Amino acid sequence: MFFFEVLSSQLFLVILWSFSTIITSLVSVVSLPNNESVPALFVFGDSIVDTGNNNYINTIAKCNFRPYGKDFGAGNQPTGRFSNGLTPSDFIAAKFEIKKLLPPYLDPTLQRKGLLTGVSFASGASGYDPQTNKIASVLSLSDQLDKFREYKTKIHDMVGENTTTTIISKSVYILCTGNNDITNTFFTLPFRRLKYSISTYTDFMVSEAKKFLQDLHGLGARRIGILGLPKLGCVPSQRTLRGGFNRTCSEPENQAAMLFNKKLSSQIDILGKDFPDARLVYLDIYNPLSDMIQNPTKYGFEVANKGCCGTGNLEASVLCNPLTLEICSNRSNYIFFDSFHPTEKAYNILCSEVLDKNINKFF
Ligand SMILES: *[C@@H]1O[C@H](CO)[C@@H](O)[C@H](O)[C@H]1NC(C)=O
Ligand SMILES: *[C@@H]1O[C@H](CO)[C@@H](O)[C@H](O)[C@H]1NC(C)=O
Ligand SMILES: *[C@@H]1O[C@H](CO)[C@@H](O)[C@H](O)[C@H]1NC(C)=O
Repeated sequence: MFFFEVLSSQLFLVILWSFSTIITSLVSVVSLPNNESVPALFVFGDSIVDTGNNNYINTIAKCNFRPYGKDFGAGNQPTGRFSNGLTPSDFIAAKFEIKKLLPPYLDPTLQRKGLLTGVSFASGASGYDPQTNKIASVLSLSDQLDKFREYKTKIHDMVGENTTTTIISKSVYILCTGNNDITNTFFTLPFRRLKYSISTYTDFMVSEAKKFLQDLHGLGARRIGILGLPKLGCVPSQRTLRGGFNRTCSEPENQAAMLFNKKLSSQIDILGKDFPDARLVYLDIYNPLSDMIQNPTKYGFEVANKGCCGTGNLEASVLCNPLTLEICSNRSNYIFFDSFHPTEKAYNILCSEVLDKNINKFF
């Protein structure tokens, strides 16, 4: 494992810091090609990758209370991560041999080293659709990019021009959003369906993704991974809301996710040609999660259609809280921690499935 630190404005110092024993117990390690190193990880998107930004903004889309963080650190440490423990931002930072926890950018206690090795700008309940962000009053993608601009100025003051350029161009960027656009804004609320079909709505989402990626590239990002949507119709809350008496998967939502993914991955191919100096990597999460839900025992799970928190049917965010009567005794048996978000164990497996075979594409 490498710990990357910048010590002065002129001097780039890479400290080879072996803390592999800490990480390998949790994360399967893949080696980076050609002794490449990645100075920092920057993450944009929604609750899948928000590590606590929403703690600092005025929204109800929060989870900095029990039972979130049930298995984080020494246990019962709600941090603003929407799970019982580590989330993809952390696993991805570890995969790229950067650090084991990715802090939220809005954390006021962030120190120099924490900033220089990367942060999450993500905000739970956000989406590609500006309407999604307004409803939840959370950070839109353009707000997140503004924070990234502010970040660049901050580190420029700390380490100067050359080092900033290196950090910005060599780091890995991850975009993971769109979930709330489909499940909440399109399928739950009436407004968008008056104006859009699922076909035109997914076009709209992809056009927002394209704008974001162009802006991010314009700001200097060169190694960018973009997650598609998971099998949204099969997450516990959507089974409850739209799966009928037997809580089957909601096929319209699965179809929407697949359609979006197809359009997104073609758009990424096109942008990849526009930006030959960059690596844009589409990361499929749909198929890995689908297989996990269909064959839970293959991955060591017992429960695939309910969350661990409360009844598991609907509780998420504020509905999964200290008053929730009970949570499952063993989180390792569940794919989902609440009715929307996977457990640490499921996230860990999914991050390996998604990244291990794609990691070379970032270089
Ligand atoms: C920054 O990089 C340029 C070009 O590589 C080099 O000429 C210059 O000396 C560097 N500046 C500092 C302060 O290291
Ligand atoms: C629910 O499942 C049962 C047993 O498989 C089946 O008999 C029944 O028709 C299903 N009900 C609905 C509403 O799909
Ligand atoms: C929890 O479940 C996992 C996987 O089924 C099992 O290996 C582990 O021993 C269980 N832990 C406890 C405390 O029961």
